[in-house]
Amino acid sequence: MWGALAAHDTMAVDLPTSIRRFSTKTPGCGVILITGASGRVARRTAELLAGDGQRLRLMTRNPQRAPKLTDAETVRGDFAEPATLKDAFTGVSAALVVSASGEPGERARLHRNAFQAAARAGVGHVVYLSLQGAAPDSKYPFSRDHYLSEQYLFAAGLPCTVLRNAFYIDMFLEKFDAEGVVRGPAQQGRGAFVSREDVARTAAAVLRKQPGGIYNVTGPEALSVADIARRLSTLVGRQLRYEDESADAARERLSRLESLAWRVDLSVGWFEAIAAGELKHTSGTVLRFTGTAPLSLEDYFRAFLKLLRALHLGQDRTSAG
Ligand SMILES: NC(=O)c1ccc[n+]([C@@H]2O[C@H](COP(=O)([O-])OP(=O)(O)OC[C@H]3O[C@@H](n4cnc5c(N)ncnc54)[C@H](OP(=O)(O)O)[C@@H]3O)[C@@H](O)[C@H]2O)c1
Repeated sequence: MWGALAAHDTMAVDLPTSIRRFSTKTPGCGVILITGASGRVARRTAELLAGDGQRLRLMTRNPQRAPKLTDAETVRGDFAEPATLKDAFTGVSAALVVSASGEPGERARLHRNAFQAAARAGVGHVVYLSLQGAAPDSKYPFSRDHYLSEQYLFAAGLPCTVLRNAFYIDMFLEKFDAEGVVRGPAQQGRGAFVSREDVARTAAAVLRKQPGGIYNVTGPEALSVADIARRLSTLVGRQLRYEDESADAARERLSRLESLAWRVDLSVGWFEAIAAGELKHTSGTVLRFTGTAPLSLEDYFRAFLKLLRALHLGQDRTSAG
C-alpha cells in the first residue's frame, strides 16, 4: 500500500493511517537530534536551529568534526554500528536522519538501523532527507535506495516527515571538467535543482513544525543541464558548456576512471534520471515551510560566492600555463 505513495507539490500525501495519526502531534520543544552533523546540510540545519535557541544533539562518526554550537551536545554515532545509536536517539523529541554514504541497497539498510533505533527510543518525530523521484523503478540507483529507505521508515511506525530533495544545484560544482565541459546522457531533460541552503532551511523549519507527510523540496524553476552551464558561465566569466553523450559512452568513459561499477551506475543514472524527467517538477515546499521562496541559481551563488571557486579551477590551470 505504501508503495503507491507519491509526493504532490506542497501537499502532504495520504499517509498510512498509523503515520497520519502520529503526525498531527504538537511539536515539542525538547532536544532535536541531527545525524551526520559534520556534513554540509546537517551542519547548516544545526546552525539555523541553534540560532533560534533550539537545544540540539549532534551525532557524527567523528566528534572532532562536529560544528561548535551553543546548547548542543555531541555524540559519536554511525548507522553502521547500531550499538552507537541507542545513546544518540534516546531522549530526543525529533530527529533529522541525513542519508548516509554507501552502496545503494546497503545504504538503505544503514538508514533502517537509524529508524529502528529511533522507534526503540520512542522518538516523537523523524525527518528523513530523501530524493525527489524516489521510486523502485527510477533510473538513479540512489532514488531506488531512498524509496527502500522510506519503506523502512514507514515500517518502523514512527511519526515522520519525508523531504524528497531535488538534485542539489551545488552538484554542478563537481561536474565540469578542467575544460569547463559537463558530459552525460541528460539530453534536453530538466531538473528543479535546489540549493543546499534551501534544503537546510526547509529541514530546520520542518523539524520545528513536524507536519508529517512527503514533500518535494525544489528550486524555483526546472532547468536543463545546458541552461545551468550557460547561467554559470555568466556568473564565473568563463565558458562552461554541456555536451550530450549516450549512456553507453558515458559508462565506458567513466569505467576507465572508476573501478567500482556501482559508482559508475550512480554517475550515469544521475543524468538519465534528469533525461527521464524524474526531477522536473517544481514545488512550493520551501516557501510553504520557510516563508521565503527558494533561491534562484544566481541569487544562491552570489550569496555563497566562495562555492564558485571550484569552477574557476580549470581557468586558473589554463592561465597558469
Ligand atoms: N539531492 C542531491 O542532489 C544530493 C546530493 C548529494 C548528497 N545528497 C544526500 O544528501 C545528504 C546530505 O547532503 P550533504 O551535501 O550534506 O552531504 P555530506 O556533506 O556528504 O554529508 C553527509 C554526511 O552523512 C554522514 N554519514 C555518512 N555515512 C554515515 C553513516 N554510516 N552513519 C551516519 N552518518 C553518516 C556523514 O556525517 P559524519 O561524518 O558527521 O558522521 C556525512 O558528513 C547526503 O548524505 C546524501 O545522501 C543528495
